[in-house]
Order: sequence, then C-alpha cells, then structure tokens
Amino acid sequence: MIRRFATRDVAAFTAYRSDPEVARYQGWDAPVPEAAARRLVAGFAAAEEGAPGWFQYAVERDGGLIGDVGIRWAGNRVRAEVGFTIARAHQGNGYATEAVRCVLDRVFAAGVRRVSAECDARNTASARLLERLGFSREGHRRRHTWLKGEWTDDLLFGLTVED
Ligand SMILES: CC(C)(COP(=O)(O)OP(=O)(O)OC[C@H]1O[C@@H](n2cnc3c(N)ncnc32)[C@H](O)[C@@H]1OP(=O)(O)O)[C@@H](O)C(=O)NCCC(=O)NCCS
Repeated sequence: MIRRFATRDVAAFTAYRSDPEVARYQGWDAPVPEAAARRLVAGFAAAEEGAPGWFQYAVERDGGLIGDVGIRWAGNRVRAEVGFTIARAHQGNGYATEAVRCVLDRVFAAGVRRVSAECDARNTASARLLERLGFSREGHRRRHTWLKGEWTDDLLFGLTVED
C-alpha cells in the first residue's frame, strides 16, 4: 500500500535509512539519528502532495513501513523526479517495482508529462528497476556528484507520458 507518512513510521524509517547498504548511493549518511528521522517524518506527514518540491509516499506491507517513494514536483506540475528506497529485508521481491509503478500511475494521472530519475552509475539495482519500469537511459554524467568522499558518475533516466 502507498500512503502518506505518519508518526508511527519513525522507528522503521530510522532503521532502514540507518542501514549502510541502503545509504550507500544516497545523499544521507548512516546511521540516521532518531531525532533527525522524527523531524523528517513529521515534515513528510504534513507536506502537501503536488506542491513544488519533494513529497514522500510511505510503502507499507502487512501493516509495517518497508520503504518510501519520493516525487519532486516541478513548479509547473508537468515535470517530476522520482526517488525510492526499500528496506534491505524486503528487496528482491518486486515491491519496489510495484510501489514505484503505483506512484508513477498517480503522478501521470495528475497531469505530469515526464518523470526523470538519476542514480549512481554503480547502483545496478536502481538502474535495473528504472529500466524494468520503462524508463529510457538518457545520459551518463561523468564525475558529477561528490558522494561519501569521492566524485561519482550519474546515470540519467526519463519516462514520458507517451512512453
Ligand atoms: C533500488 C531498490 C529500491 C531496488 O529494490 P529491489 O528490491 O531490487 O527492486 P524490486 O523490489 O523491484 O525487486 C526486483 C528484483 O526482485 C526480483 N523479483 C522477485 N520476485 C518478483 C516479483 N514478484 N515481481 C517483480 N520482481 C521480482 C526481480 O527479478 C528483480 O531481481 P533483479 O534486480 O535481480 O533483476 C533497492 O535496491 C534499494 O532500496 N536500494 C537502496 C536505496 C537506493 O539506492 N535507492 C535508489 C537511489 S537512486
């Protein structure tokens, strides 16, 4: 199930975002202090879906939080960017595919015409997920991002409403 974040998600959110494997190619450092996670979850819970900027959808399975899918809505509401995280224990089951597809359906139904995504060039699980969802690989930016002590390459992806 895809739903809005709630206060009860703080413990699970703190746990999976604190996993160094999950944080490996992400912009945050593990572990995530619980106070910081609490502030983030409070912000997610109060955010307005569709307002310019990021909106995080909680991914729930059997009543528990297993991940999140973020959409960054552009000011014009016709372009968006997607990001995603699934707790390690729940990876490899198709849940990311199902959750991201569900959010994309919602975003395209709301009038978005193009969704972009990018990932570290070494993040093969992320690139495979995007290609499985129909994204086209549109570019490779060399040494573009400073991540955890090194300059890294980014892969760029896009999915249009025509796709
Ligand atoms: C990127 C990420 C969300 C992908 O998660 P995932 O578990 O690999 O993706 P899915 O849930 O769609 O699972 C897909 C895998 O499960 C397999 N699978 C098993 N049962 C399946 C089913 N019923 N339906 C679909 N796939 C299934 C697929 O074959 C696929 O395997 P493959 O990747 O070896 O080809 C996950 O690796 C992650 O959270 N990484 C850390 C955070 C991160 O880096 N995020 C991206 C930043 S750009």
